[in-house]
Amino acid sequence: MSHQVEIRIASNAVNASKNVASDFATALQANPKIVLGLATGGTPVGVYQHLVALCQAQKLSFRQCTTYNLDEYVGLGPDHHQSYRHFMQVNLFDHIDIPTNQTFVPDGVVNPIEDSCADYESSIKASGGIDLQLLGIGENGHIAFNEPGSDPKGRTSVVGLTDSTIAANARFFDSIDDVPREAVTMGIGTILESRRVVLMATGGNKAEAVARALEGLPDIDSPASFLTTRENVIFVLDKDAAAKLSDATIQSAKEID
Ligand code: GLP
Repeated sequence: MSHQVEIRIASNAVNASKNVASDFATALQANPKIVLGLATGGTPVGVYQHLVALCQAQKLSFRQCTTYNLDEYVGLGPDHHQSYRHFMQVNLFDHIDIPTNQTFVPDGVVNPIEDSCADYESSIKASGGIDLQLLGIGENGHIAFNEPGSDPKGRTSVVGLTDSTIAANARFFDSIDDVPREAVTMGIGTILESRRVVLMATGGNKAEAVARALEGLPDIDSPASFLTTRENVIFVLDKDAAAKLSDATIQSAKEID
C-alpha cells in the first residue's frame, strides 16, 4: 500500500461523519473563503447534517466560501427530485448561509453540454482551485462518476454509467429505468488537483473497493486507487468499509473513536 494516505477508522458511520464534518468545519474556520469540493450520494448526508447544525448554531459560516460539486446526471434539471443540484439544496445549501451564486454543480441539461464542461473547469481555476474535496466511492471503485477504465488524467466531461452504478443508484429512483445512463463529472485529473482530499466510505458493500484502492499499485480498473499517487489524501472509514484491508494497513490506520 501507499504510505501517503492517512487512514482513519471509526466504529460506525455516525462517528465517521462527525470526523469528516469536523475536518471541514476546521478548514472553513481557518479560511472562510475556502473553495470546497462536494459530493452527493448516501455517504455524505450525515456530514452535511453536522455542518448544518454547526451553521444554525452560528458556530460556522459559509457566507464567503465557494463550492463545486463533483457531478450531475445528464438530462436532470435542477428541479428534478433526483438531480444532484436538488440533492445539494435539500441536504445542505437550503439550510446554511451560502449565497446560491457561490455554489456550483455541473449543468445536466445545458446545450451543448461539452462547452459547459470546459466552462466548469475554467470556473474552478478562476476560483483558485479546490482547497478541500469530499469524495465517496462507488462499489466498483468509481470516484464521482469516473468508472473503471477512466483516464486518470481526465477532465470534466460527459461519461456513460456502468450497469453496476445504475443498479446501485436505482434505490433513489422509482424504477431502474428512470436512472440516467450518462452524467457530467469532474475527471480524475480534476479531482487530483484539489489541495486536499477526504474520501469517506461506510458499509460492507464498499470494503472491496476500499481495499482495492489502498492496497497495491494504482490501477485503471480502480479509479480511487489514483488517490494514492499524491499527498494530502485521507480515507475516513467505518469498520465495515475497512473490513477487507490487510492487517498491515489496519495497523497503520488511526482509530478515531
Ligand atoms: C454515486 C456518485 C458518487 C458517490 C457514489 C457512492 O454514483 N456519483 O459521487 O460517491 O456513487 O454513493 P453512495 O454514497 O450513495 O454509496
